[in-house]
Amino acid sequence: MQRFLSFRVLASIGVVMLALAVTAPRTQSQAGVTEATTGLAATSNGFAEEFCGAGQFSQARVTDSPNSPRIPADECSFQTAAEEFGAEEAEADGLGPVFNNNGCGTCHFTPAMGGSSQVTEKRVGFFNGQVFTDHTGGSLIQDRGLDPDFIETVTDPRVNVVAFRSSLNVAGDGYVEAIGNGTLQDIANGQPQAIRGQVTSVDVAERPGAKRTGRFGWKGQQASMVSFGADAYVNEMGITSPLQPNENTVNGRRVGARDTVPPGHGDDAAFTDNNGVDVELFALFMRSLPTPARASRISQAAQAGSNVFDNIGCSGCHVRQIVTAAPGTLINGGALRVGNVLGNKRLRPFSDFLLHDVGTGDGIVQNAGPDSRNRLRTPPLWGLRYRGRFMHDGQSVTFTDVIRRHSNQAEAASDKFNALSNNDKNNLVAFLNSL
Ligand code: HEC
Ligand code: HEC
Repeated sequence: MQRFLSFRVLASIGVVMLALAVTAPRTQSQAGVTEATTGLAATSNGFAEEFCGAGQFSQARVTDSPNSPRIPADECSFQTAAEEFGAEEAEADGLGPVFNNNGCGTCHFTPAMGGSSQVTEKRVGFFNGQVFTDHTGGSLIQDRGLDPDFIETVTDPRVNVVAFRSSLNVAGDGYVEAIGNGTLQDIANGQPQAIRGQVTSVDVAERPGAKRTGRFGWKGQQASMVSFGADAYVNEMGITSPLQPNENTVNGRRVGARDTVPPGHGDDAAFTDNNGVDVELFALFMRSLPTPARASRISQAAQAGSNVFDNIGCSGCHVRQIVTAAPGTLINGGALRVGNVLGNKRLRPFSDFLLHDVGTGDGIVQNAGPDSRNRLRTPPLWGLRYRGRFMHDGQSVTFTDVIRRHSNQAEAASDKFNALSNNDKNNLVAFLNSL
């Protein structure tokens, strides 16, 4: 986009800044591990200042990618990154030809910029009993286009897999990115066989050839903030970048004058973040957000419910605490070094970030291989009280319905919930509402 401060952008940032920020006490414990910053507003956790500053963990010292640029010094700030994430783009900025919406912030705004939202998107494909095949043009069906003729619909009569995916919160994701692969593997190894999660391995776009344990998206389909940002830019908004140089088609059809560049060539000025800086700014914004804060007052019922959550096995997958890699650790296939702000931090995500079959699998295969077809990543429960519509498809609005839908690997926990007294059930719900 062209970076200037529109009234709209300033207004939306103003609203975000009004939201309440809560910072957890930095409790020192073993091996220099401290609590991650928590909050509910789009205010910086300190990452942008560390990254854009001149110290040991400055951008020049922590990034190393052959195909994604550094952010120019005059654009490297939390404010510029927040504006880029919150900006709404037009065709002149590269939007389209097909897209779902015109800005990251249009789907990530609850309770503040960088949160989730009620927006869902749809994926479809075809399963022949053995192999999953995407709908022509890709499993994601973009709902909007620059031209009425570009709007994708489901055209293939063989389609027998249809999935809706609700928007996810991105606040706290910089910390999740800083979790070492070994830590996720250790969690899986420690889980009883009946609930063991699948550790996946996905490409890191900013380090061609490198793989990393997937942890983002409902299918654990991405492992890095830069990779997810480039993917979202082209798939949600239709804006290509060096990491995602190919425009989307309309159900497999290339769209004439509005797509003059052959696939594989990212030099179409009209449809591109041609230098890739926007994508880096999205990552800067997301890495700089605090993890969602818990409710400021925890009732007695919620405290009691916290024990119920452990006793019936919910925390086997919704893991309470994870510690990020130490400062200095190389992650993302070597593209990024963890700094002080995100390193050695204790997170309270209530997730193992692994894939499980809990009976709701949506049948879609993305980056995590054919085994992931009916598995979903355990969603983090931080910020849960602001979500309102639950599960990957957003089809549950009460926690009792959410738990009722947990089966297969989560059958035992679900059965134990059903056997609870009404009082314990209510306490568990109070606990979930405090997250
Ligand atoms: C049309 C709505 C929409 C827009 C626009 C959008 N997103 Fe998303 N976002 C989603 C949905 C839906 C998901 C869950 C996708 C999935 O896993 O299938 C998601 C997931 C994510 C995640 C994964 C979060 C996690 O913790 O797993 C990241 C990161 C993300 N989006 C970043 C972005 C960025 C950056 C942009 C702008 C370039 C953007 N999104 C634009 C709807 C949107
Ligand atoms: C075997 C692992 C596993 C166990 C055990 C488990 N869950 Fe889940 N949980 C998941 C997965 C995977 C999903 C995503 C399912 C989907 O979206 O269809 C999920 C989704 C949820 C959600 C929806 C979150 C959102 O943002 O939409 C809540 C709430 C939840 N679980 C609470 C619980 C509670 C309470 C228990 C204990 C009764 C429990 N879970 C036990 C794996 C598990």
